[in-house]
Amino acid sequence: MSRDQKFTTRHSHGIGVYVAGALVIFLLAMKISDMSTDDNTQDSAYQAAVAARIRPVGQIYLPGEEHEAPAPTVEMPAEPEPVATRMTGPQVYNTACLACHGAGIGGAPILGNVALWADRIAQGTAVLKQHALSGFAGSTGYMPPKGGRVDLSDAEIEAAVDYMIAAAR
Ligand code: HEC
Repeated sequence: MSRDQKFTTRHSHGIGVYVAGALVIFLLAMKISDMSTDDNTQDSAYQAAVAARIRPVGQIYLPGEEHEAPAPTVEMPAEPEPVATRMTGPQVYNTACLACHGAGIGGAPILGNVALWADRIAQGTAVLKQHALSGFAGSTGYMPPKGGRVDLSDAEIEAAVDYMIAAAR
């Protein structure tokens, strides 16, 4: 009897036990792996969740293409309240009217000069405002529309006229 044959005979029992044990472990492992891999990768909800996670940040749409997802809405900070740019009567006068009406340049009635303003004020406030807005060529000179400041609003010009009338009363 060769050495190998002796070994096999002596340990055949043991080898059988080992093989059986290995088989049991293998089957057990199969069973466990079956239980743990709860394969939901074909699940539509799962796929949708993955698609959403790996969705590119930006998307390009060619003309005529359907928009698949609405453009992400970006929260914009609230628009700041528009700053009141309207000037008061005195402010308008000082920036737009003073040049002529301060010293009577070109025949302009001087601010606060009651004698120069009396006949003009007698026309009525509406006429004075109309002349200031549209321009006016009278007996003493030429008053340009809005005093040349067409960028100012009608309300600003009218406020300046009110200021000039009040100063000459
Ligand atoms: C370039 C010079 C000039 C500037 C600037 C000017 N004025 Fe005059 N304004 C005149 C002249 C000149 C008259 C007199 C016209 C006349 O009676 O012949 C006049 C007359 C007036 C009158 C009287 C009109 C009337 O019917 O008698 C008012 C009101 C008036 N201006 C308002 C203003 C206001 C308001 C401003 C500024 C926004 C202004 N003006 C800027 C030259 C000017």
